[in-house]
Amino acid sequence: MNLPLPIVGKAATEAQSAHELLARYTVPNYGRLALAPERGEGVWLWDAGGRQYLDFGGGVAVTSLGHCPPVITRALAAQAGKLIHCSNWYEIRGQGELGKFLTETVMESPGKTLFCNSGAEANEALIKLARKFGHATPLPDGTPRTGILTFFNSFHGRTYAGISATGQEKVKTGFAPLVPGFTHLPYNDFAAVEKAVAEAPDTVAILVEPVQGEGGVHVATADFLRGLARICREKNILLLFDDVQSGIGRCGHWCGWKTAAPEIIPDGVSWAKGIGGGFPIGAAWIRQRPIQPGPDAPDLCDILGPGTHGTTYGGSPLACAVASAVLTEIHEKGLCGHAAAIGAEITDTVQGWDHPLVREVRGAGLLLGFVLNPDALPVPAAAGEAATLPSIRVVKALMAEGLLSVAAGPEVIRWLPPLNVTREETATALGILRRVLDRLAAPAATVPA
Ligand SMILES: Cc1ncc(COP(=O)(O)O)c(C=O)c1O
Repeated sequence: MNLPLPIVGKAATEAQSAHELLARYTVPNYGRLALAPERGEGVWLWDAGGRQYLDFGGGVAVTSLGHCPPVITRALAAQAGKLIHCSNWYEIRGQGELGKFLTETVMESPGKTLFCNSGAEANEALIKLARKFGHATPLPDGTPRTGILTFFNSFHGRTYAGISATGQEKVKTGFAPLVPGFTHLPYNDFAAVEKAVAEAPDTVAILVEPVQGEGGVHVATADFLRGLARICREKNILLLFDDVQSGIGRCGHWCGWKTAAPEIIPDGVSWAKGIGGGFPIGAAWIRQRPIQPGPDAPDLCDILGPGTHGTTYGGSPLACAVASAVLTEIHEKGLCGHAAAIGAEITDTVQGWDHPLVREVRGAGLLLGFVLNPDALPVPAAAGEAATLPSIRVVKALMAEGLLSVAAGPEVIRWLPPLNVTREETATALGILRRVLDRLAAPAATVPA
């Protein structure tokens, strides 16, 4: 139904709730929870009514240093007073400095970075890199190699290439025709990859999350990653890691795969989310290595030459200043190691509860998934509640007690607190989690719809 859109004055607008304004004036593409955040500090968030929440959702792995940390607000203010934006027609020094840090400290391997604004865009850059590479290194008959392997339950963003790469039907429904050339395989199944590569000689790249976040917090095994690295090396296929959610300290190391297989140097990596700590920035790192054997072969990191790709906002002076401040803070405060330690403590604690509602704890560092046992959840009290996913029901129950978390699929609750979360804050969150799980597991329990 088309409602007339009354033009209202300032006073009338202020009287409307966030819920009313969103419902009337924004596209309903998000299933939002009934919480209108107004202010944040560290791991804490306050709603419009002044109610306080412990934010262990972290904006889905974005607020790596918590809400409004002084290092970010200082960097923002200082750079905003100097230069917010200038075109990529000019030499933006901040991009060079940030690229140097990513190559020398994060990757510890020669390479170059392309800056953009989001995770989807960073993956788009890697996918375009793969296609360009496949044209430059064709099959013996001259046909470009274009096939890209990705995995079931993956998530690579909402652009057309992103949803085409993503191994979940729900993001594709109603959007066909998609970008061709993607094949999805079972995650952590190297035999399936070997078979797919043998059957499709035009395979040019493998795009994989070191830890699948949106798909339910699944961690890649060392054997799987090493197998991928080996077959990519043997067949001159690009190994591309989507580290948008799992990277920049989130999993206890700069890079999400380093817990499992630290020696692997991929051909490309995408980052976003935590690298800006809340300010939009994405990055696609590309390895420096010849595209094929031979004296005149260009380096992979140079094949996206002038005019091949770009974006107006990508790597603005402001975005680079913020990201540099975030990376410096993570580096100087040793937050990768801190995230690894706190994550291990949370895992041990929750596993130690042996709780009937929790089947398993998965993840690495501070990308953690509590796999629910839906059979142990109380029968929904109200009609209509049954349609709500178990994970969402528990997320709502936790929110009602002042703890924010994020669903990852139908049966997994995800925690992604800031990398600098304290032991005290963690103990508070664990206390709420335990209390809510106990209440839900009690015979007469009810859960919010
Ligand atoms: C692994 C992964 N890749 C890509 C994306 C897309 O990032 P963005 O939402 O910044 O476009 C996400 C977002 O959740 C993600 O988790």
